[in-house]
Amino acid sequence: MNVQLLIPAAGAGRRMGAETPKALLALGGVPMLIRTLECFQTIGLLEEAVITAPHDRLDLFNDVLQQFFTHSAFRIVEGGAERQDSVSNGLSALEPATEIVIIHDAARPFVSADSIQASIDAARDCGAATVAIPVVDTILQGDENAYLVSTPDRRQLWACQTPQTFRVDVIRRAHTLAQKEGYTGTDDASLVRRMGEPVKLVMGTPLNFKVTTPSDYALAEMILEKGGPECVSA
Ligand code: CTP
Ligand code: MG
Repeated sequence: MNVQLLIPAAGAGRRMGAETPKALLALGGVPMLIRTLECFQTIGLLEEAVITAPHDRLDLFNDVLQQFFTHSAFRIVEGGAERQDSVSNGLSALEPATEIVIIHDAARPFVSADSIQASIDAARDCGAATVAIPVVDTILQGDENAYLVSTPDRRQLWACQTPQTFRVDVIRRAHTLAQKEGYTGTDDASLVRRMGEPVKLVMGTPLNFKVTTPSDYALAEMILEKGGPECVSA
């Protein structure tokens, strides 16, 4: 099956609070987006990858990508206001022959090749898959005044990660329905589940965390100083 990679990288990085777009922040001297893309190089998914970028930084993203991957053909697509809008724009830019799309946050630079492959396999079987990890903390549901409402059974709770991988027709239908109903989510697999269709949970790794805040960024730098994710036991 034809597999194409879609990287949402158009976020402003508000929680990071840096001047530079988060995806271009240097991690161990290399832009985060480049490190994330390198995770997909060994399985040959860089060619024709679709990357969403902030609308006013398309040229900058193009320059950075050309600098690191001189021979790869990327398609840089303008992102939207929300992640869901950016992904939707990216889905419109896929090659017509693409059957499976693998969507991965630019902000997760330490994804393992095993997780990528497992998510592709699961999407082939089931139509939709997300990488996720069982939560280790007890999760509390609170109300608006910070009083405990309930404590869901931890054994059924997973923390969502990416890649999220889909048959193209499935994720396109899910986005169309969400848009029609005015629903905005923070991931894509949940849009498929809203539609009533199955989504397989694929085991991820704690190192595939999302670089969201300055403390995540410091942790990512420390991991690289130790020699990278393969040198750190999770
Ligand atoms: N993203 C995107 N388009 C948006 C928002 C987010 O393509 N409008 C991408 C980000 O670039 C990131 C991924 O979606 O790779 C996950 O988003 P998140 O970690 O929330 O990044 P930001 O939205 O940039 O950060 P923040 O929410 O703190 O502003
Ligand atoms: Mg965001």
